[in-house]
Amino acid sequence: MKPSKLTITDLELCQTEDQSWTVLHKDLDAHYRSTHGAKAESDWVFIKGTRLSEQDTWTIGELGFGLGTNLSTALALHGSRKQQTPLHYIGIDHQPIPPSIVEQTLSPSQYRDWLLDLLQQIDRGQTIAVVEPTEHIRLELHATNLASATLPTNWAVAFFHDPFGPKSNPEAWTPEAFTTIRNCMTQEGILATYGAAGHARRAMANAGFWLASTKGFGRKREMTIASSSQECISHGTLIKKYPPFMELKP
Ligand SMILES: C[S@@+](CC[C@H](N)C(=O)[O-])C[C@H]1O[C@@H](n2cnc3c(N)ncnc32)[C@H](O)[C@@H]1O
Repeated sequence: MKPSKLTITDLELCQTEDQSWTVLHKDLDAHYRSTHGAKAESDWVFIKGTRLSEQDTWTIGELGFGLGTNLSTALALHGSRKQQTPLHYIGIDHQPIPPSIVEQTLSPSQYRDWLLDLLQQIDRGQTIAVVEPTEHIRLELHATNLASATLPTNWAVAFFHDPFGPKSNPEAWTPEAFTTIRNCMTQEGILATYGAAGHARRAMANAGFWLASTKGFGRKREMTIASSSQECISHGTLIKKYPPFMELKP
């Protein structure tokens, strides 16, 4: 079922331990990013987890655009580099936030303007919003469920798997969801997720990923990185008990 359109009153602003902002989704009782540091979590789990800075071309997919914290962290890193690395981002969200929230959570910058533009296009009724602010950068926001999204194949070198947890978003943690994501990724592409539960890891393995565990953010002991290539996740500890295409017990 398509979730209802979010309004400001469905969300509660929250400043996190590193001074960056996130929001609480009141109905789901879930924060979009960790209250221990929204930006720091984004940097640790998604940017470092996918080894984004080592890539020559930044083709990034994301399940759960949310407040755009992961995207703005990637854009700031991209902007701080000397090389003009091509960056193409596709974010998917079935319940995009109202654009005005971004004005309250991000300080004024060109990145904030780009995120606002994406969310305003969706707010005006478009299903796919596109912003191409420079010849090297293309940003897309698809206002749809992952299961209905049309994604390029063999494309993403980094995939940020960032829905809410399995209790709120069970459909985002299934073998089918991870198969859709794996099809969108290159052989060397790396998925990063804060999720480390056994059933989530089994679903990723069933979809054909190699898995590795790394230190989680804040109070979380572990997180998961996944790839079709075992070598590409050598920055974590390989999880041998969940090999690619493992069968799931009924
Ligand atoms: C934890 S928040 C994402 C935070 C975001 N990545 C950020 O950096 O601000 C989870 C987001 O995933 C979206 N979402 C959850 N399940 C989804 C699904 N099956 N398809 C598309 N979007 C989904 C929610 O609407 C929500 O905006």
